Amino acid sequence: MAEDLIIQDNLSKEDKYKALLPQIKALLEGEDDVIANLSNVAAALKSTFNFWWVGFYIVKQNELVLGPFQGPVACTRIQKGRGVCGTTWSQAKTIIVPDVDEFPGHIACSSLSKSEIVIPMIKNNEVWAVLDVDSEFLNHFDNTDAQYLELIVAML
Ligand code: SME
Repeated sequence: MAEDLIIQDNLSKEDKYKALLPQIKALLEGEDDVIANLSNVAAALKSTFNFWWVGFYIVKQNELVLGPFQGPVACTRIQKGRGVCGTTWSQAKTIIVPDVDEFPGHIACSSLSKSEIVIPMIKNNEVWAVLDVDSEFLNHFDNTDAQYLELIVAML
């Protein structure tokens, strides 16, 4: 059974990720339903960091389709190579965007989103989904986020 996450509010960002990792591992243990697990990871990230938007896009028939997320309503389908998510899919590499207005082709699902990080989720050498996190603040994401979010998606 899921229990409440225990993450102290006064921790640094890195210490919050460190506290979160084993709790996410425990949350995923014994559950193999993808939608259930993606949903709980989106909720865990949102409640720990209060990100503006956090969620998954899943590769289906050669497009990204909106999956479990927390935050305002979002675009439902993204083509390969389009926007930050579609570019992360085609490059299979994490992309940090300090200012979304500076990213050519950025897809603005919410006008309040100012910076973004997208992590590819890879199985058998193929991207099967991406994790997208948006912030209402400029320059919100750095290599610490990239490093820990990559560890988190590796558990999925
Ligand atoms: N900004 C993303 C689209 C998804 S929303 O931010 C939730 C992009 O450019 O791919």
